[in-house]
Amino acid sequence: MGVKRHFRVWRGDQAGGDLADFQVEVNEGEVVLDVIHRLQATQTPDLAVRWNCKAGKCGSCSMEINGKPQLGCMTRMSTFDEHETITVTPIRTFPVIRDLVTDVSFNYVRAREQPAFAPPAGLAPGEYRMQQVDVERSQEFRKCIECFLCQNTCHVIRDHEDNKRAFAGPRLFIRAAELDMHPLDARTDRKEFAQAYQGMGYCNITKCCTEVCPEHIKITDNAIIPMKERVVDRRYDPIVQLGRRIFRRDQLDDRAAEADVSGGTGVAAGVGAGVGGRVPAGGAASAAGTQAEVSTNWHHTAPPAPQGPAVRDDGRVNVSELLLDRSGAASPFGDDQEFPLPPDQLSYQHPTPPDEG
Ligand code: SF4
Ligand code: SF4
Ligand code: FES
Repeated sequence: MGVKRHFRVWRGDQAGGDLADFQVEVNEGEVVLDVIHRLQATQTPDLAVRWNCKAGKCGSCSMEINGKPQLGCMTRMSTFDEHETITVTPIRTFPVIRDLVTDVSFNYVRAREQPAFAPPAGLAPGEYRMQQVDVERSQEFRKCIECFLCQNTCHVIRDHEDNKRAFAGPRLFIRAAELDMHPLDARTDRKEFAQAYQGMGYCNITKCCTEVCPEHIKITDNAIIPMKERVVDRRYDPIVQLGRRIFRRDQLDDRAAEADVSGGTGVAAGVGAGVGGRVPAGGAASAAGTQAEVSTNWHHTAPPAPQGPAVRDDGRVNVSELLLDRSGAASPFGDDQEFPLPPDQLSYQHPTPPDEG
């Protein structure tokens, strides 16, 4: 037999909204998402909430429960005091679409900017070989379910909308770290990319992202800090520091900028105009800010909108474009395959339902 509990749920859209009070039944063993579903079923059929798996694996049901960013499907009602009011609000860092549903497309735009895994030259898919220790090293980051609770929690963008132009966020930093640690990734500029284009320098290692990660990924300790250390390694190398004292700083920075633009560090060559251009937006930068303007692209323009894959004359998209956009990893089905697959190529078919009546 269930008991009635007091819930306060945010209702509204882009134009504004407020908390609405509900008394709703709660049964033993339920999670917050169960109660939201009961609200939908019994009192508020138009309450918007995003969810899919109800198993902590799809990352859809991110919300703030009593102010803490959590997955609704992984938050047990038994963790609250018996008479505690449960307040449920949408994640705050991203714009609300309606009620508990937010627009998280920022994360996908940022993900598309990140250069993909670059396979080693001369190896075909299926010929890659890695040591188990290398697999284990980056396996932690691949547990990410893209719930974006870390992104929501990070104060760099949670309270400063403007920073979204320059800061990709912890979820993208672990992706950069994963690729940087990948022994077969041919790119050597992952940390430079994270520093110059993803704004890793904004992170001041508060570890809030790590605290809320439902997959217990040690985002700060195992991804961000090692990446930062390797960036700092070069920038604050004592020999480089000495060189800076001997030469005039602006001469060194000019040379570094030239090297970057011509592909000297590998960043410009790979990332393209986004970093290679390095055009400071504020033309009247102060003398103190000049070095930062040249060596890091703090003021790059808004990230480009995602580009869709090329469409053929017949209006269809090549299958390989849908799966991976690199020629080295074509679709196992071939480019001319159309979906749905013919029945004889399926390894599983749903059983035909028995005739009704
Ligand atoms: S450790 Fe860095 S990325 Fe994580 S929440 Fe703090 S500032 Fe953001
Ligand atoms: S790193 Fe953790 S908190 Fe961030 S999106 Fe992935 S699973 Fe969610
Ligand atoms: S519904 Fe999939 S993680 Fe909560």
